Amino acid sequence: MPKNTGLNRRNFIKGAGMTALAGAVGSTAAGTAVAEEMPYLVNGKYDFDTVYSRIGSGSVKWDSQIAKYGNKVKVGMGIADTDFRAAPCIGEAMAERLKHENWGYLGGEAYAEFREVIAEWNHDRYGLAVDPTSIQIATGVHPGLIAAIQTYSPPASKVLLMTPTYNGFYSDLRNTQTVKNESQMVFENGHYSIDWDDLEARMTPDTQTMLLCNPQNPTGNVWSEDDLLRIGELCLKNQVVVLSDEIHADFTRAGQKFTPFASLPDKAIVDNSLSFRAITKTFSMPASKNAYWFSTNKVMLERVKRNHMAGINTLGIVANTAAYKHGKDWLDQLLVYLDGNHQFVEDYLKENIPQMRYTRAQGTFLSWLHFDDIMDEVGVVKKSKASQMTDNPQSETQVFEDWLVENAGVQLNNGQSYGKGSDRCMRMNVGCSRKVLKFALDNIKEAVRKV
Ligand SMILES: Cc1ncc(COP(=O)(O)O)c(C=O)c1O
Repeated sequence: MPKNTGLNRRNFIKGAGMTALAGAVGSTAAGTAVAEEMPYLVNGKYDFDTVYSRIGSGSVKWDSQIAKYGNKVKVGMGIADTDFRAAPCIGEAMAERLKHENWGYLGGEAYAEFREVIAEWNHDRYGLAVDPTSIQIATGVHPGLIAAIQTYSPPASKVLLMTPTYNGFYSDLRNTQTVKNESQMVFENGHYSIDWDDLEARMTPDTQTMLLCNPQNPTGNVWSEDDLLRIGELCLKNQVVVLSDEIHADFTRAGQKFTPFASLPDKAIVDNSLSFRAITKTFSMPASKNAYWFSTNKVMLERVKRNHMAGINTLGIVANTAAYKHGKDWLDQLLVYLDGNHQFVEDYLKENIPQMRYTRAQGTFLSWLHFDDIMDEVGVVKKSKASQMTDNPQSETQVFEDWLVENAGVQLNNGQSYGKGSDRCMRMNVGCSRKVLKFALDNIKEAVRKV
């Protein structure tokens, strides 16, 4: 029987402009590698290097860029999900569940095991004891964050952020009709650090929550226990509730250690926080719509629950439970590969585009690139100004995003959407085959050389 994957890759690729990538990375290029033809293991190791095509699956990272830019875009290096084929345990568990052909509403029994495996993962990987009954299941990190902001930050009040920070937080603020309060971090010697005086000065009476991102998207900072304790102390003193978004927890580079906010050695600080997690990004499945949040503070937990509409997706629970139970080896091997990708970018830029500054990521699968003068040289200021009078007003980094697609065929995320201090930056996703990464960097190098 022919396998019907529900995808229409080859048709989609026709005229979709990915031919350059195919030429660059050989016969297993985007659009040619399909799951049935690829072994999971090569020499006993998971294969993250063979390009695994997502084209035609409706992905934002690839298909939405093709829909927007057509033939001009050759590689999508934006949106924060990884291109890797998911761990085999995930597909296997879903296939098993497919044998039961009813998809009706689910109760707590459906995720009792899920809560147990979450608690186990946190204990084994991070030494954190989470009470399984305190774990609230959500359809994503965003719904939990929005419920928490709604609980503690009334409309028109301020939410504290350390910028550059995840651009999706600004959507959460729009959703809750709250206002940004941005404490810009200091960038020095390839690393971001907190401006402590500024951060505390912003903890004003109309600021009741702080959105902390650890590890931080887009800078890749993995916050130390000392930094987290200091943030926690300031927030406690100024009655600001800490909302710790830890969706990138599992992505740390060699030598780095993720510290869950809830593991800090100060009960009062921990009790002033809620933690938000998911392993969907970790295992290449963020559209399985599955996340969770928890707090040691029972009152906070109950208050936020009142604003939270929990949702359970049958296959989401199955897939995520399988990943927690059986995905450890896959993830450990992935982390080695990603560490290599980060190093590759750093070395490549140093050697080939030395005028660019690079942020040395400690975690995440994201690279925060400082294009600096290059943006000015391509005239982003003038073009952005001119666009303000049109139906399509663009920020300077949006102009540069288009310029990069036009001149390099590479789509990156525009820096200014990450808040104050991001004016000459772009975010690049390194969660892909190193062949794709090299292809993107080669193209950027060539485009920049002509400026
Ligand atoms: C820091 C951070 N939080 C939340 C999200 C989105 O999470 P979800 O899809 O679970 O709502 C992302 C996605 O990029 C992210 O980077």
